[in-house]
Amino acid sequence: MVSRYRPVTKTITHYAANACLLPICQLHGAAITTVEGIGSTKTRVHPVQERIAKAHGSQCGFCTPGMVMSMYALLRNTPQPSMDDIAEALAGNLCRCTGYRPIIDGCRTFCQEANCCQESGVTNCCINGENGNSDELFDKDQFQPLDPTQELIFPPELILTSQTPRPEPLTFQGERMTWVSPGSMDQLVQLRSRHPGAPLVMGNTNIGPDIKFKGIIHPLIISPTRVTELFETTQTPEGVWVGAGSSLSEVRTLLENLVPQYPPEKTELFRALIKQLGNLGSQQIRNVASLGGNIVSAYPNSDLNPVLAAGRCKLSVVSSGGKREVPLNQDFFVNFGKTILKPHEIVVSVFIPFTRKGEFVGAFRQAPRKESSFATVTTGMRVFFSEGSRVVQDISIYYGGMGPTTVSAVKTCAAIVTRSEQWDDETLGRAYEVLLEELVLPPSAPGGKVEFRRSLTLSLLFKFNLEVLHKYDVYTNNGHVYSQIHNRSGMEKKKIIISQTPLPQSVSQEQNSQDPVGRPIMHRSALSQATGEAVYCDDLPRTDGELFLALVTSSRAHAKIIQLDVSEALKVPGVVDVITAKDIPGRKVRTMCGYDEELLAGSEVSCIGQMVCGVVADTRAHAKRGAAAVKISYEDLPEPIFTIEEAIEKSSFFEPRRRIERGNVTEAFKSVDQIYEGEHRMGGQEHFYMETQSMLVVPVGEEREFNIYVSTQWPAATQEAVAQTLGIPSNRVTCHVKRMGGAFGGKVTKTSILASVTSVAVTNRPVRCILERGEDMLITGGRHPVVGKYKVGFMNDGRIIAADIQFYTNAGNTIDESVLVIEKILLHMDNAYNIPHLRGSGAACRTNLPSNTAFRGFGVPQSLMFVENMITDVSMVLGLPADKIREINMYRGPSVTHYKYQFNPENLLRCWDQCKAKSTFSSRRTAVDQFNQQNQWKKRGMSIIPIKYGIAFGEGFLNQAAALVHIYKDGSVLVTHGGTEMGQGIHTKVQQVASRELHIPTSKVYISETGTNTVPNTCPSAASFGTDANGMAVKNACQTLYQRLEPIRKKNPKGLWESWVTAAFFEKISLSATGFHRGPDLYMDWEAMEGQPYAYFTYGACFSEVELDCLSGDYRTLRTDIVVDIGRSVNPSVDIGQVEGAFMQGLGLYTLEELKFSPSGLLYTRGPSQYKIPAVCDVPLSFNVYLLPDSYNPHAIYSSKGIGEPVVFLGSSVFYAIKDAVAAARSQSGLAGPFPLDSPATADKACLASASHFTQKVRVGGSVGRWAGLWVGL
Ligand SMILES: Cc1cc2nc3c(=O)[nH]c(=O)nc-3n(C[C@H](O)[C@H](O)[C@H](O)COP(=O)(O)OP(=O)(O)OC[C@H]3O[C@@H](n4cnc5c(N)ncnc54)[C@H](O)[C@@H]3O)c2cc1C
Ligand code: FES
Repeated sequence: MVSRYRPVTKTITHYAANACLLPICQLHGAAITTVEGIGSTKTRVHPVQERIAKAHGSQCGFCTPGMVMSMYALLRNTPQPSMDDIAEALAGNLCRCTGYRPIIDGCRTFCQEANCCQESGVTNCCINGENGNSDELFDKDQFQPLDPTQELIFPPELILTSQTPRPEPLTFQGERMTWVSPGSMDQLVQLRSRHPGAPLVMGNTNIGPDIKFKGIIHPLIISPTRVTELFETTQTPEGVWVGAGSSLSEVRTLLENLVPQYPPEKTELFRALIKQLGNLGSQQIRNVASLGGNIVSAYPNSDLNPVLAAGRCKLSVVSSGGKREVPLNQDFFVNFGKTILKPHEIVVSVFIPFTRKGEFVGAFRQAPRKESSFATVTTGMRVFFSEGSRVVQDISIYYGGMGPTTVSAVKTCAAIVTRSEQWDDETLGRAYEVLLEELVLPPSAPGGKVEFRRSLTLSLLFKFNLEVLHKYDVYTNNGHVYSQIHNRSGMEKKKIIISQTPLPQSVSQEQNSQDPVGRPIMHRSALSQATGEAVYCDDLPRTDGELFLALVTSSRAHAKIIQLDVSEALKVPGVVDVITAKDIPGRKVRTMCGYDEELLAGSEVSCIGQMVCGVVADTRAHAKRGAAAVKISYEDLPEPIFTIEEAIEKSSFFEPRRRIERGNVTEAFKSVDQIYEGEHRMGGQEHFYMETQSMLVVPVGEEREFNIYVSTQWPAATQEAVAQTLGIPSNRVTCHVKRMGGAFGGKVTKTSILASVTSVAVTNRPVRCILERGEDMLITGGRHPVVGKYKVGFMNDGRIIAADIQFYTNAGNTIDESVLVIEKILLHMDNAYNIPHLRGSGAACRTNLPSNTAFRGFGVPQSLMFVENMITDVSMVLGLPADKIREINMYRGPSVTHYKYQFNPENLLRCWDQCKAKSTFSSRRTAVDQFNQQNQWKKRGMSIIPIKYGIAFGEGFLNQAAALVHIYKDGSVLVTHGGTEMGQGIHTKVQQVASRELHIPTSKVYISETGTNTVPNTCPSAASFGTDANGMAVKNACQTLYQRLEPIRKKNPKGLWESWVTAAFFEKISLSATGFHRGPDLYMDWEAMEGQPYAYFTYGACFSEVELDCLSGDYRTLRTDIVVDIGRSVNPSVDIGQVEGAFMQGLGLYTLEELKFSPSGLLYTRGPSQYKIPAVCDVPLSFNVYLLPDSYNPHAIYSSKGIGEPVVFLGSSVFYAIKDAVAAARSQSGLAGPFPLDSPATADKACLASASHFTQKVRVGGSVGRWAGLWVGL
């Protein structure tokens, strides 16, 4: 949080900001508060930290300090915030673990307004006692009150310095950059005229990313933040002059304050700007980004410029040549990022005029995510009617996102105005035709989605039309038309999130109150994560002489390396060495499934992003500069393969391919009533763990010993890989994993390669390697995209008799775990359905994209999409409800899977039935159908989806775990086990296990880290099997110890734990024990097509309902109800956290997250601005999780079940709800039957599939083609 004293108003302002974009020089005179400053576990935890932690809002904890500070900054300004305030404050913070519900619940406790479900008209309200008894998961009464008087004060010395004018320029000199902050307008003008090329840095939100990500160097930066004229506001009878230096938040507040002071017709433009400002970037961005900066940056999809231009705004500009006024119109924007302003000119202020009677201004935008996302298309429109009529006197329409600049639809405007047209459907109809001709995008336009963007230009104009009619009517008090408009367009949804805190399972009354098992214990590190004290890999302090490794990756998809020239890199100051494949002393490859993968490319590269060499330097900055100086010449090899289709055509596969069949599919097709053949395409997914791949390799100094501090799910594999790479035995390498800031499967295999490369860079000094987000996304791959074809045979009553599904994954350039993913895809292809004749085949395609890897669900979230899509198609062919087809085909009674595994589906059916009951499925169906009949442009859709998910590793040997438990003489207990903590709460659960088995409070049990020196040969924390296996190992060790203490206990039954331990020591009883769990001997025989690859199934069902705006493809999840069978949960709050987080990750996978590649195979989506994971705005308005009661599982610890992965797939319920809404829109246009909708169902796909007459116009209008500039990695 940044705090500043404003001498003019004598006020102190506080605002949250993105640390990564804040230049340190800009902060001169400001007070900075970080998460460490507001509270500490050692002194006093701040109420925000406490509440987020105790509400279970911190899992891996990497996002928690950011969440805490956003909320803290809000409370500093608004101690009693509304839910809208909270939603807005958190909108710019991302969390990949929790699904946001618990964070919101923690923050909600500061909110004084009624904020329960009834607020948004959600039925099944918490007040009815159904749900939402938040006291069950955390106890609000225990929270400390928020006392604003106890907050840190603004440093008085900063007030004093701010009050003392310092007219002289402030200068800061860096290694390659000079930063000058002029003290007056004159100085600014002089500087600008002397250095016209130097940028004026205000918020740094445009210049900053260029420096950071594009490596642009500005030798001089001018920072005019002390020039008061840039912040002045002046009102005139015609409007308001706003200082160009004002932050966008300040502009919004100013306009919000002005609106109530004038009649509504005068503030049309103000309100359009307020609307746009509410959705532009995030609050953190708006708090620093300036109005002038936004205008001058001239982004093609700036949200403000179209509105300012349509609203006839103008700029006051100054330079050494004097002052002038410049109208903001179509002539202002010259090219990408260029305006007509001269390089030495400075925008002083922006004039925003009042509107006139009969004048209407609208602002609309459509973005890949509702919040914190640049718009795909954004628009500002203004129309002025002749007095007392709807005859158009003047109109202006501007779009962003339709070319390299903000563009004006001049011809369309002219077509409306020149004929003095009435504003009616006929006029608009003609305007659409002109607009379609006027705003044409070439098929290869940057940004893609050409068809969608063109249709948006039409539909956003249509929205404007609806809004104008509505306002015209309101201003002329005609209520009848108002209600018509209301029905036709629907109203804007409130941002408020009405999530409901789930109920945990209750423990039996007989259970000892000290026994923590089954209770919702807070994540054991939550408080230290919330206070910023938790240590992640890159938090380890720099050691003496430490070096940093920056990686150099291939820029070609398939090429020979002709020359690797590192000479320039070695000249960069601070660079110590460059490591290449030749420097690897031991094995230069790692082998998986029979395929070798080079650690560093030798003579050839097979994807963009493949590691070629690494630059070692004294600092990260120097290493990066060195890496940029490495020159690699390539000779391209012919025909790289990128897509699955290309791989199939060229038979480019990793072997073995897999096939499975039960019954006789070919024969069965002959006896069915109908056969349908379909295809589905599903994109990949980036892990987007908050903590990127991180490692620190420290040489111990003798006998080639190394300590590795690393963020990995599989320390043993990292240890082994490093040992092999260095050609030393494993006993010289110790891996330490304290915790990870998220992993989701991405830190199982990839980390071992990165750690191996880092270890090569180590001579006698420690080397750290922390990937930046863009590098991580480029190098490490993610979830496999899949293309699948299916043929399904079924009877007219809905019974599916036979199905044949072919799956092809895009594995990328190396095999990694791709064949294992294929196997899991095939083993889950039945999902919840008993299809008597079922055949599947799967192949991992070898392509020239970065290698994909394990990702939560390990192929299951892909596999089941094809099954459920097939079922949805069957329902559409038959015209029967999809839930009925699902029910007809579900496993019932004693059942056998297609790989001959016997199981009882009773709990699957119970989840399904309870989900239907909890969601009031049938009444919601009626309500949805009614809504759809009454609304033309908004449609609702709903779906219910089941899951049956196999737990444990199909490779039997991986189902083992070990533990080491020490009891110290003071009675404290140190537990070590093979599982790693990535936020899933394994250490918390294991602590509960040890506490129960040793009959001591959890406070006596400590888990320090996972280390290969304490528990060797561990298996990965994956397959939702971590607690099952490691919990059992710890239980085993603790039981051994407790038994050893038995004679002592018998002698002194009333003694305390500490006294028994002391006595045991004096009686020479060992107080240290190992534990081991030999898990089930699972197997799969692919020849015989049968096996026992899972220990048991976790079941669930999920209902979701969405509302889709068919004009823009925008959707909102109105409600989600999940029922999961997780047996008897060891820790319900941790498990519910897994359910909610996995659901949101699935929601992202199926509806939001889209990887885009260039035609030459470069991943474009390499950061949060291009790749959108779900944010707070995506949480279902009503979000309910229920744990299936009375479920027991003999196969896992204390009758619990693994839950980390299964629920990802339930996010697809939102996809199918969107598909249902699209089907409703299509049927309105007379389209019936199956239709393709690929995953993710992003706004563009949903909008185009809805086939509104605007999208149809674009298609009929021609000039669209396959857009070649981008593709989505299938
Ligand atoms: C994460 C993120 C999300 C964003 N989302 C959106 C969005 O959804 N919609 C949207 O419209 N924008 C968005 N933006 C862009 C943001 O609004 C602009 O970057 C911002 O307004 C620029 O202002 P600034 O003060 O930070 O500019 P700076 O980076 O400080 O400067 C930008 C440029 O403007 C020039 N400049 C600044 N002030 C003046 C002046 N007074 N006179 C002359 N030249 C000047 C500078 O010389 C420089 O070239 C986003 C940016 C980020 C980083
Ligand atoms: S807890 Fe939010 S990213 Fe892990």
